[in-house]
Amino acid sequence: MYNPLYRIVAMALLVLVVAMTTATPLLADKGRSGSGGKGSNRHVVAAAVDPLYLKECGSCHMPYAPALLPARSWQQMMAHLDKHFGENAELPVADKNSIQQYLMANSSEQSTAPLAKKILVSIPAAEIPASISTTPYFIREHRKITLQQVRENPNIRSFAACQACHTQANAGSFDEHEVLVPTAAQGKP
Ligand code: HEC
Ligand code: HEC
Repeated sequence: MYNPLYRIVAMALLVLVVAMTTATPLLADKGRSGSGGKGSNRHVVAAAVDPLYLKECGSCHMPYAPALLPARSWQQMMAHLDKHFGENAELPVADKNSIQQYLMANSSEQSTAPLAKKILVSIPAAEIPASISTTPYFIREHRKITLQQVRENPNIRSFAACQACHTQANAGSFDEHEVLVPTAAQGKP
C-alpha cells in the first residue's frame, strides 16, 4: 500500500509550513513599518498622469490623484463643472468626456492602494462626497487641525491645498512623515 508519492507530498507540505512560519514575522514587521517607515506604501496612491487632466484640472489647484475619490463623486463633479466650488470650470464636451473616463477608470474602487480602500470604506454607501476633504476618512485624519487654523494661515488657506502640508502630495504620497504644516509666518504669502 505504501506509495512514495505520499512521502513527497508530506515533505512538500512540511517545507511549506516551515516557510510560512518563518515568513510571518517578516510580513508582520512590514505591516508595522507601513504606518510610517521608509518604503511604506500605505499612504500612497498613484499620482495623476493623464496630460489633459493635468492641464485642465491642475491649473487652479493641484491635480488630485483619481484614487482619492469614488467614481460616483467624479461623475457628479464632472456633470456640474459650471458650478464647481463657486467657479466655472466647464470644458468642451470631448475634453470633459475624456477626463471623466480617466477619473472613472482610476477611481478609488479601481485602486489596490490601502489608502484608496480606507477612503472608500469610510463613505456611507448612499453618500456622494463632493470633495476629498469632506470624506469621513479625511476628517478623521485631520481632526487635530482646525478649519480656522487652516483658513487664517496665508500659506495654507484651505484643506484642499494638500500640497501645502504634504510635501509629496503631487506624487500621490501622504505619509505622516512627509507632513510639514507651515507656520503662518513661514515662506511666501
Ligand atoms: C477655475 C478654477 C478651477 C478649475 C479649472 C478646476 N477646479 Fe477644482 N476646485 C476649484 C476650487 C476653487 C475648489 C475649492 C478649493 C477649496 O476648497 O479651497 C476646487 C475643488 C476641487 C476638488 C475638491 C478638493 C477637496 O477639497 O477635496 C476636486 C476633487 C476638484 N476641484 C477637482 C477638479 C477637477 C476634476 C477639475 C477638472 C475637470 C477641476 N477641479 C478644475 C477650482 C477649479
Ligand atoms: C493644514 C495641513 C494639511 C492639509 C492642507 C492636508 N493635510 Fe493631510 N494631514 C495633515 C496632518 C498634520 C496629518 C496627520 C499626520 C499625523 O498623523 O501625524 C495628515 C494626515 C493625512 C493622511 C493620513 C496619513 C498617515 O500617515 O496617517 C492622509 C491620507 C492625508 N492627510 C491626505 C490629505 C489630502 C488628500 C489632502 C488634500 C485634499 C490633505 N491631506 C490636506 C495635514 C494636512
